[in-house]
Amino acid sequence: MPRLNPGNLHRARDLVALYPEPRSALIPILHVLQEQDGYLTEDGMAHVAELLGLAAAEVRGTASFYDMFHFEPVGKYLVAVCTNIACMLQGAYRLLEHAEERLGVAPGGTTTDGLFTLEDAECLALCGNAPCVTVNWRFFGDVDLQGFDDLVGDLRAGRLDDEVPPHGTLSRVDRSVGLAAPQAASGSSGATVGSGSPGDGPRSHAQPDLGTHRSTAATASMNAGHLDGRR
Ligand code: FES
Repeated sequence: MPRLNPGNLHRARDLVALYPEPRSALIPILHVLQEQDGYLTEDGMAHVAELLGLAAAEVRGTASFYDMFHFEPVGKYLVAVCTNIACMLQGAYRLLEHAEERLGVAPGGTTTDGLFTLEDAECLALCGNAPCVTVNWRFFGDVDLQGFDDLVGDLRAGRLDDEVPPHGTLSRVDRSVGLAAPQAASGSSGATVGSGSPGDGPRSHAQPDLGTHRSTAATASMNAGHLDGRR
């Protein structure tokens, strides 16, 4: 099972440099690990523990508190359908039921081809564009049943590959906002954000990979919020 690959090890070290105590970088490094493999592998968590001078049990114990982290493989696309109040009032349960039928899995399940994992999510903070869906933490608002089918079709056909990276993770912001790693001034960026392929190393805030082809102004703003670190 994989540990952090060289590019992500570099990102992890940049993240450690942002904090007075190495252990403070635990959560963002776990996001990097999850971005790499799609879930938190035991070997990966052991590697993170080693990097931060923690026990493996401390890493797992912390990670297991947060439902954004996965400990089993998930599909290439983590599709979360919000069913909280605003979305519920706009037909989210009908949308979720439709998603279950369309993908052939219940919430928590992964399609047999390994492409999609479906989740029933709490508020995704896009209430103004209810009902909403995220795919690997990229926002899609005002999603009706046909819109959901179109989205799945586009993902399956690879038409959104430039906009939705593989694996489910909050990958745009590695806890860098308002902080500056010492290396940043010498050209080694601590502000590692982005949504490219796993293992492609540090990326820049300037990388304009926001939005989806179905973004409304609100969804674009929300995606931009990820880049700016407001979420
Ligand atoms: S209730 Fe669905 S995004 Fe807030």
